[in-house]
Amino acid sequence: MPEPTVRWVGGLQGRMELIDQTLLPTEHTVITCRTVEEVWEAIKVLRVRGAPAIGVAAAMGVVVGVQGAPDDEAAVLEAVTETCEYLATSRPTAVNLFWALDRMRRVANAHRGAGGPAVKEALLAEAKAIRDEDAAMCRAIGDAGRHLVTEGCGVLTHCNAGSLATAEYGTALAPLYRAHEAGRSFRVYADETRPLLQGARLTTWELMQAGVDVTLICDNMAGVLMRQGMVDLVLVGADRIAANGDTANKIGTYSVAVLAKHHGVPFYVAAPSSTFDLALDSGDGIPIEERGAEEVTHGFGRQTAPDDAKTYCPAFDVTPAELIEGIVTERGIVSPVTAAGLSAALGEGRG
Ligand code: MRU
Repeated sequence: MPEPTVRWVGGLQGRMELIDQTLLPTEHTVITCRTVEEVWEAIKVLRVRGAPAIGVAAAMGVVVGVQGAPDDEAAVLEAVTETCEYLATSRPTAVNLFWALDRMRRVANAHRGAGGPAVKEALLAEAKAIRDEDAAMCRAIGDAGRHLVTEGCGVLTHCNAGSLATAEYGTALAPLYRAHEAGRSFRVYADETRPLLQGARLTTWELMQAGVDVTLICDNMAGVLMRQGMVDLVLVGADRIAANGDTANKIGTYSVAVLAKHHGVPFYVAAPSSTFDLALDSGDGIPIEERGAEEVTHGFGRQTAPDDAKTYCPAFDVTPAELIEGIVTERGIVSPVTAAGLSAALGEGRG
């Protein structure tokens, strides 16, 4: 596995480091986030991205936020509140961000009365626990889903739901890594994932690093591949899953699901319990991030549309549960995807 996408180095006065994913695959640079503003910016511009990794980064961002606070307990608690409110404005769709910030707030409150230094230590321990738990959940997703990746099969994935998007190992890519480790041979097709090319820049890169057979395709080629019988399975990640299984993921995922249904290809989502938002009955309530027009008109620095072209730039879409064959979680595969099945697998709360 490549080095962790985001990590905490040292103790309370240590530092938060992350791989700057905007520079991959041509530059592999680890940056340090020394202020909460730097953490916010790193999440906003996708230096760190992918729902679980955003959650881990936000949790560590809260530790960054209290590092400079005086040891007075009230000041520490105030810094927690301010940092959480601020980081919550970075990106709206991946629920892991809000889930991790909630956990950090709860830990701070649970340590009220213990004194500022103890609250700070508890926050650091919680951020590390969130990271470690995510790594363990990804491994378990890999174990739960590896049988889907059969000898000789073709798997299509969209965006990047690999180790770069999580604490370690990935969600949608975890069953692929597990099958690869077991010696199975199979082909992966990585959608390039316009406009920010997470599939081309990140998924293709990390699968090649791991020695997995991966072929990069443009997003608009998926239908032809399915028609030609090259795809036996679609496996994608998720940014937020509602109680009924409707799933928000990178823009373009819904189109792939419709294509998969038409061609009789099973479409699976892989996600940890921290990506479920059981407070939402359906995907209609999932907030969808809209990003700047320049990501479409000036992708990677070059103008590719007329001056002042009108654009529409949702960064995510929602795939209805009826198009999803199964959801692979760390607690097993839920199939068929129903509210009752998910609730039984996940329990009342999420995470
Ligand atoms: O905008 P991004 O790159 O953060 O979007 C990421 C995705 O849509 C991933 O598929 C999702 O977060 C799952 S990551 C395990």
